Amino acid sequence: MKVLIIYSSHYKGNTEKIAERFSEKADCDLINIKDNGPIHTEKYDLIGFGSGVYKESTAPRLVKIISQLELEGKPVFVFSTSGVGIKSYNRSLIHALEMKGAKVRGSFSCKGSFVAKEFTDVRIFALMSRLAKGHPNNRDYKEAEKFMMNMVQSV
Ligand SMILES: Cc1cc2nc3c(=O)[nH]c(=O)nc-3n(C[C@H](O)[C@H](O)[C@H](O)COP(=O)(O)O)c2cc1C
Repeated sequence: MKVLIIYSSHYKGNTEKIAERFSEKADCDLINIKDNGPIHTEKYDLIGFGSGVYKESTAPRLVKIISQLELEGKPVFVFSTSGVGIKSYNRSLIHALEMKGAKVRGSFSCKGSFVAKEFTDVRIFALMSRLAKGHPNNRDYKEAEKFMMNMVQSV
């Protein structure tokens, strides 16, 4: 089983930490989209797409990359880290993948730490950042490992 994980993690590397956990459970090739190289999907049995969430959105460049890949019939999954840690942020990735004919097998999310004062004075973000402190944590990693095992078994 060959697994590829393509991700964007340009703030604190939180999403990359989850990608690395996935990779410890299955033998994965990892591509951080900041590295800009060509991406070939043919030889992979399963492909994961992950992103941090910035201003309510996963990385637009990841969505653009999805639009350029050959994914018809390919088993895929999505994941994100964000201040609130909710799965609904993964919707735009799921939509982009379904538009390409990929088979979405699962969706994972967890909290990722952030420092509110680095980008906003809005007080609710200060509270959110306290709740996200220390994430991803050991419990998140355990959930990530469980999720990855399910993804592998689904193919
Ligand atoms: C500019 C900026 C905007 C953010 N916007 C949101 C947001 O709208 N919702 C949220 O839940 N988290 C938000 N966050 C928190 C990040 O999603 C969180 O830190 C995530 O783990 C970052 O992933 P990365 O370290 O892999 O880039 C924001 C962080 C930054 C720096």
